[in-house]
Amino acid sequence: MKKAKIFTDIHFEISEVDKRLFGSFLEHMGRAVYEGIYQPESKFADEKGFRTDTLEMVRELGVSVVRYPGGNMVSAYNWEDGVGPKELRPVRLEAAWKNLEDNSFGTNEFMDFCEKTSISPMMAVNLGTRGIDEARNLLEYCNFDSGTYYSDLRIKHGYRKPHNVKLWCLGNEMDGPWQIGHLEAREYGSLAARTAKIMKDIDPTIQLAACGSAGMKLPTFGAWDATVAEECYDFIDYLSVHTYFDNKCKTPDDSRDFLASSLYFERQINSVIAACDYAGAKKKSRKKIGLSVDEWNVVYRPHGKIPPDAIWTKAPHQIEDVYSLEDALVVGSMLITMMNHSDRVKIGCMAQLVNVIAPIMTSDNSAWRQTIFYPFMNCSKYAKGSTLYHVTECDKYDSKSYTDVPIIASSIVHDKENETLTLFVINRDLDEDCELTVDLRQFEGYDIKKHIVLNHNDIKAVNTENAPLNVAERCSENSSLDNMTLTSVLEKHSWNVIILGK
Ligand code: AHR
Repeated sequence: MKKAKIFTDIHFEISEVDKRLFGSFLEHMGRAVYEGIYQPESKFADEKGFRTDTLEMVRELGVSVVRYPGGNMVSAYNWEDGVGPKELRPVRLEAAWKNLEDNSFGTNEFMDFCEKTSISPMMAVNLGTRGIDEARNLLEYCNFDSGTYYSDLRIKHGYRKPHNVKLWCLGNEMDGPWQIGHLEAREYGSLAARTAKIMKDIDPTIQLAACGSAGMKLPTFGAWDATVAEECYDFIDYLSVHTYFDNKCKTPDDSRDFLASSLYFERQINSVIAACDYAGAKKKSRKKIGLSVDEWNVVYRPHGKIPPDAIWTKAPHQIEDVYSLEDALVVGSMLITMMNHSDRVKIGCMAQLVNVIAPIMTSDNSAWRQTIFYPFMNCSKYAKGSTLYHVTECDKYDSKSYTDVPIIASSIVHDKENETLTLFVINRDLDEDCELTVDLRQFEGYDIKKHIVLNHNDIKAVNTENAPLNVAERCSENSSLDNMTLTSVLEKHSWNVIILGK
């Protein structure tokens, strides 16, 4: 058995975990919206056409914000197509994913979804084929009370009260060569700043996220972030970060490498923080820009693959990746990384929510939870309070892409008010359990409430419609407290949540 030790201090707070870190993303793509959350003809549909089984699972997942309507899709989207009487809505070629879009679901239906699930909307505006004018009109439609063209149009469409959308994205992945209307950094930065200015003039209570680079693999990464931050510094609140880890594992060595993906993510986050702070330093600004990791997940490439016979059809099966335990461990380690950066990472949107690279899957007959559902749900439920700095002593390994990978990944969240201490811990070791000890003498009077584990003998195990609970969380008896020293046996390749409280 391996051994590990964690050292922490009750006073060493990083920052409060923003509940928006546990957000998600819903794009008009494949079966995410249609057949995912919305299927009027389904036996599960409610009076408005929402799938009640999905709604229930979304609530259970504990999602705080949802980014909508894209994604790549937003860069050629006309929001006006998706509002008003359904029979008048046009059918369009959705050019980003080659889907047929009948617009039977749009902004107001999305707001209904948010209301039904107690989720805050995060809307993206189209800075690909459109721009400042479209953005200000959509904002007026959503947030202005009444007495203007667009606010009255919303009222005419049956929504008396404004939607009051507080979070907005200024386009999507605009440095990606694949992006419709893709721009150079200065051009985008200037457009984003001008769009942001009028949006904040119209509604000063909103927060804005500009597009950071679409990923560390792009040649524009870093320089793009610094340039965009420089152009928009005074107008934006967040710069976006997008990351997808590609599971190509065939051997245990591949898996060891893949399980270390959060080291790359850590580097990416630190680089984007550095780019923002570089822009801030040049401006001699006191303001700090936060990070909005508004797309992140594990994927099985090729990304967005669509079978040729499904092109220009409505809601085709598109990147419906099936996630294993191994993927859930990487997802858990990404959550841990974001929580440990709670001082700067304020928003996180797992991409996506239903069917398309998603924690929830649906068929005509049921909905089920993928493996990645569990670490997300655990964090959204238990990561309340402030993360604590800590040091971990444990074995390390080298893999194909990384050196010194700690076998333990961890985050500690302390809720002072409710006197709860929660440890999120992964044992990356594929072969051995690990005995973890943590000195908790500063937490006198706390007791173990629960130790939750996600594990399976086979790290390639998945959940399917026929075996929906093959990989599911369970309670463990592997934790004990003696003289305020916590001892937990972490099973090999497992995700663990250890909750202590008074
Ligand atoms: O989530 C799928 C796609 O991945 C999004 O549309 C895009 O922003 C990213 O490249």
